[in-house]
Amino acid sequence: MDKVETMRKILVASHNANKIKEFRSIFKGYPVELVSLADLGDKAEVIEKGMSFKDNARLKALYFARKHDMITVADDSGIVVEALDGQPGIYSARYSGKGDMQNNQKILREMEGRDNRKAHFFAAIALCFPDGTCHDYTGRVDGLIAKEEKGEKGFGYDPIFYSETYQMTFAELDSKIKNKISHRAIALARLKEELDDILDHQ
Ligand code: IMP
Repeated sequence: MDKVETMRKILVASHNANKIKEFRSIFKGYPVELVSLADLGDKAEVIEKGMSFKDNARLKALYFARKHDMITVADDSGIVVEALDGQPGIYSARYSGKGDMQNNQKILREMEGRDNRKAHFFAAIALCFPDGTCHDYTGRVDGLIAKEEKGEKGFGYDPIFYSETYQMTFAELDSKIKNKISHRAIALARLKEELDDILDHQ
């Protein structure tokens, strides 16, 4: 295998099948081979002890880049609700401690009677090399917290995240559209813009 081919194999450091699906769809047609942790039989979890989305993305990408000696991308993402002082933010995954459905219910309860329903999804993506060099990308998409859950598509907070542009929740939105406008899509588009340069200069 020559150097360029080796460089174009990228490990996606996530156990979330939905996220991996999104990564694959966003990278469709792009000359990189995405490998998942499941493909490598790696079930390790990295404790997200960083104080920002970027710190947590780097922690995960660096750990797996070193462990598997592969270029690795990892993301850390979540929902930031203005009226809740930015919560749940980096604690989005463990907000209720009881999973996605309870996370959504908790936000709906806390937002009862509030006029300001502005929120955004935020994603930080880190692409790290086994030598410790990292590149960071971020993306954000704005919306409102709906009054109730709606839609069956997507995952996580999608049923309560209302897009003013499309007049529906992210869980009602066609996945092709979500994968064009999402926080992760925006961050990944930025990564894709630089990817050739990054790989060429390593
Ligand atoms: P982590 O990035 O895997 O640590 O978790 C992020 C948290 O935010 C999880 O609770 C996800 O369900 C949620 N989240 C991240 N991206 C999205 C999205 O695109 N839609 C809905 N929820 C998301």
